[in-house]
Amino acid sequence: TLVGMSESKRVLLAAPRGYCAGVDRAVVAVEKALELYGPPVYVRKEIVHNKHVVTTLEKRGAIFVDETQEVPEGATVVFSAHGVAPVVHEEAKQLSLKTIDATCPLVTKVHREAVRFAKDDYDILLIGHEGHEEVIGTSGEAPEHITLVDGPDDVANVEVRDPDKVVWLSQTTLSVDETMETVRRLREKFPALQDPPSDDICYATQNRQLAVKQMAADCDLMIVVGSRNSSNSVRLVEVALEHGTKDGHLVDYADEIDPTWLDGVRTVGVTSGASVPEILVRGVLDYLASQGFDDVTAITAAEESLLFALPMELRKDLKAAG
Ligand code: F3S
Repeated sequence: TLVGMSESKRVLLAAPRGYCAGVDRAVVAVEKALELYGPPVYVRKEIVHNKHVVTTLEKRGAIFVDETQEVPEGATVVFSAHGVAPVVHEEAKQLSLKTIDATCPLVTKVHREAVRFAKDDYDILLIGHEGHEEVIGTSGEAPEHITLVDGPDDVANVEVRDPDKVVWLSQTTLSVDETMETVRRLREKFPALQDPPSDDICYATQNRQLAVKQMAADCDLMIVVGSRNSSNSVRLVEVALEHGTKDGHLVDYADEIDPTWLDGVRTVGVTSGASVPEILVRGVLDYLASQGFDDVTAITAAEESLLFALPMELRKDLKAAG
């Protein structure tokens, strides 16, 4: 009957979701380095912020360290997708490390903008989350010129040398809407504030948020697959709740889903952060199907086809190895 149909349980599956071009490149870089040089290959920080990715690479012989100094002299080290400050390249040089820089090219772009505006002696207001690796890396390009602005409420604390020479830049994985609010408040304070030459929030972050916005109001529950320390994944839960989803949770694995979340729920939204392998989303969909949510509809907000070439150092060695 019609009543029966309207009560049926369903899943709205966001697209795009999961791996972006920068994550794919970084993970493949570690895999190729392991194949080419053999284990162990050291990786400074989590290559991408995903538990499953890190444990899988660990099993294959990657060793994750927090500081460059933990890498033995002369060994191979991969720098994570989030980017590193210039001082980290220096540390690696001093230890004669072979480095493979897996910094996402879209993060490198923001580094270049920072260098350029610092050279022109601007005050740079970097919007981002305090303590996040990407922000530490970008700030390290021009520590004297960069002030971190951690969200709209931090604007009140911001001071600059010359309000007529101020530009804002941002972390790549922020909430688009919240960042626009931060910029609005900054501009209230510094009317001459300049915009970055192009979007710093990357295409993948924007598209994943866009898909969630399109389906949020139709969902009683949003399950975002991703790790706690993944900025873009955490933002997806926030975006869902801001756009009308009643309840939302971040899970690394399907077995973290609390069955009571599904009580009285008719429509579940599912998506995943840019560092999340699709197999983890499969796990969530399989679990939901086992609970009667087996009607899955894709909600597609954008098509993505971007691919990045592997880090140059690695490409050279792969070529030499034939
Ligand atoms: Fe790069 Fe954006 Fe992914 S900055 S690593 S494409 S989330």
